[in-house]
Amino acid sequence: MCGIVGAVAQRDVSAILIEGLRRLEYRGYDSAGIALIDRNKLERFRALGKVQALADKISPEQAGSTGIAHTRWATHGAPSEVNAHPHFSRDRIALVHNGIIENYKEIREKLFADGYEFESETDTETVAHLIESYFEGDLYSAVHKAVGQLEGTFGLAVIVLDDPDTLVACRKGSPLVVGLGIQENFVASDVSALLPVTNRFIYLEEGDLVVINQKDYQIYGANGEPKELEVNITEMSADSISKGSYRHYMQKEIHEQANAVAECLEGRISENGVLDSVFGPDSDRIFKQVKQIQIVACGTSYHAGFVAKYWIEEILGLPCQIEVASEFRYRKSVVPQDTLFVTLSQSGETADTLAALRNLPLEDYCGSVSICNVPESSLVRESSLVLMTRAGPEIGVASTKAFTTQLVSMLLLIVSIGKARGLDESVIADIVHELRELPGQISELLKLDQQIEAVAEDFVDKHHALFLGRGVHYPIAMEGALKLKEISYIHAEAYPAGELKHGPLALVDTEMPVVVVTPNDDLLEKLHSNMQEVKARGGKLYVFAHQGAKLAETEDDVVIQMNCETRWTTPILSTIPLQLLSYYVAVQRGTDVDQPRNLAKSVTVE
Ligand code: G6P
Repeated sequence: MCGIVGAVAQRDVSAILIEGLRRLEYRGYDSAGIALIDRNKLERFRALGKVQALADKISPEQAGSTGIAHTRWATHGAPSEVNAHPHFSRDRIALVHNGIIENYKEIREKLFADGYEFESETDTETVAHLIESYFEGDLYSAVHKAVGQLEGTFGLAVIVLDDPDTLVACRKGSPLVVGLGIQENFVASDVSALLPVTNRFIYLEEGDLVVINQKDYQIYGANGEPKELEVNITEMSADSISKGSYRHYMQKEIHEQANAVAECLEGRISENGVLDSVFGPDSDRIFKQVKQIQIVACGTSYHAGFVAKYWIEEILGLPCQIEVASEFRYRKSVVPQDTLFVTLSQSGETADTLAALRNLPLEDYCGSVSICNVPESSLVRESSLVLMTRAGPEIGVASTKAFTTQLVSMLLLIVSIGKARGLDESVIADIVHELRELPGQISELLKLDQQIEAVAEDFVDKHHALFLGRGVHYPIAMEGALKLKEISYIHAEAYPAGELKHGPLALVDTEMPVVVVTPNDDLLEKLHSNMQEVKARGGKLYVFAHQGAKLAETEDDVVIQMNCETRWTTPILSTIPLQLLSYYVAVQRGTDVDQPRNLAKSVTVE
């Protein structure tokens, strides 16, 4: 999953492309590159590391009115300048690629035999040479012929020195949008890259090719027939993607959660219930039928689904399965009658989640729902019932506000299904009441900021940490551990507290911080016993205690009191201090909080 951007204009496009790459850096940031055509010259600049390293290499005089650019997350070939895109063929074709070409080896062998020289280890360079091998003056025809031979996934943008005012782009399995300006046109992996230059976008469909020049564009379907697609005006603004006064995007996004949750609820709940329109007109019919729910997601979104499983079984009394998309998509699963399929994804572009949805034998399910944060994403465009989380752009690689709004959205889904199936109205009213209180409670919890910053110091020199939870707080412990490992690089594991004695207890000593969230629920006493097991082995406890969850703590324990007492929204609230803990540990360890090593925000490869 890489980011690509391309432009054809009258003016110099180098600054537009570099800004586009900065905005796409969440998709990968191990190297970056740009190719520009200026009159009769095709020039390329590439740099290892982030987009800034590339920007530093380009002199202010460097200009070009046609160009393509790329920020990489390495798949084939290590991060290096020579593997960085754009890739050239015979110094006239330049190409950037997001995705994976699965049959590149056989194509490469053939091209090698035909005399093409390869300088990189990438699958992408093969495509550049393949297009060159078909090029007879018309770039569109050459790209069309070449992509017909490719297996795998790709978003491609190609330029050729012989036709300096034309750019050809295409997509299969990887996202690509066309941005329409005035006397200038663009392509990019997503709209955020182009917000400074346009708000008019066309979302290409699977297999589409587009030819753009300064004044015009033409889209072709996979069959080569010209086609027209709707032009959309996005409401996103270029400014919505800035850090403001915060030090990191992640910090800003943690602090935005009260608003994000309020946005997510806006216009969707009434005094005691959820409005009928939330999931669209067809939802009531589908929800009445549901007898079982299958949730599929990845990463943090998977944890949101896991929390929802507990809620669904307790509130709705319906069986619920949750599985990571990369497993689900390749497994033969048994689908009981009237199963509802639910996907959760911040980006709506995660390859495994999308594939799980695309490969679904829809006739075996009574319907499908996607919970997503990006309105323009593939997942949203390809799902029948959709609920937008409305968290706003999330830039930090480690997901925060997307997660809490996913949990809120799942409660909205549960209440909507419950309403259709005759769930006790008082339960619905209780949940809705708690949802209403949530933004205020989140704001209160964020006041723990400085206290948690101080506690984080204890973790800075640690190599491992254990997170424990019971019941619905087990997936919250998983999310807490994921957050810590993602951004601080401390090895962190989550365990259901009752499993401690079956293995992880062997790891507990004075060097192992053990983080526990203690809700005031039926499992409190059990959890308390597990905590004693830790203390008896010299382990140090860091307890995030909900109101009423009084513990006989000792001086050695660090207890952070959370002044909230809820029943249904408890896991959402418990997430906030765990996010702050990870954030401050990472800051104090000096890691790259927003762009942790080896990771990317949107994983569009499997
Ligand atoms: C990546 C991100 C995670 C995210 C996961 C799933 O690993 O770094 O933060 O949870 O992808 O992404 P999705 O967009 O489908 O929620």
